[in-house]
Amino acid sequence: MARKFVVGGNWKMNGNKEQIGQILNFLKEGPLNADTEVIVGVPAVYLEHVKNNAPANVQVAAQNCYKADKGAFTGEISPLMLKDIGVNWVILGHSERRQIFGETDELVADKIAFALQNGLKVIACIGETLEEREAGQTETVIFRQTKAIADKIKDWSNVVIAYEPVWAIGTGKTATPEQAQEVHKALRGYISSNISPDVANSVRIQYGGSVTGANCKELGSQPDIDGFLVGGASLKPEFVNIVNAKQ
Ligand code: G3H
Repeated sequence: MARKFVVGGNWKMNGNKEQIGQILNFLKEGPLNADTEVIVGVPAVYLEHVKNNAPANVQVAAQNCYKADKGAFTGEISPLMLKDIGVNWVILGHSERRQIFGETDELVADKIAFALQNGLKVIACIGETLEEREAGQTETVIFRQTKAIADKIKDWSNVVIAYEPVWAIGTGKTATPEQAQEVHKALRGYISSNISPDVANSVRIQYGGSVTGANCKELGSQPDIDGFLVGGASLKPEFVNIVNAKQ
């Protein structure tokens, strides 16, 4: 079965009610390709507001959640809270969480497993730093990050993987379509050999890192790129063009 194209907009720690109103307006105006799944990753305080005001063809994701249902974890939110307000997606393991907030492969994997157990769908982020790429470590790093997840989950049907080379995030340095395709293909091969051919064939792998309206079509035409996770450009009307990259 063909993999449905999936485009996420990760707003990160951006936006206020006024700006969110503008984003929701361009999402409503679209038009958004009905064959593409669209998800926006929203700062926690605005989740319910966006959930209540987004058009029906746009789903809402949290940008993080913890690996416990409740308790003394000041500042954290639980998957059950997200489900309680009708949010069905969460972005986990983003490189900013890993690098700035010290999240390890193991913590990310625990959080993914717990979110899935509690009925959330997960965008699981992986990717290498510039140093790692230059040292020829790209595959070692992304295979290690994927294995950490595979060690803790069995069912991949509610997981989308986002391959985001850290050197391409917010830098304007997009991976070329060939570079991105090469990594996506290698990752699918790893999944086929180490998880299962079925999962390799069905799991959707997004590319993230300086995706824009100008480069999305060529990236999206690569056989192993099943969508995008978009940061900066998801705050702008060009996000509609990125959603519509695959026609
Ligand atoms: O989650 C999104 C990525 O970090 C990409 O961000 O499109 O601003 O480079 P960017």
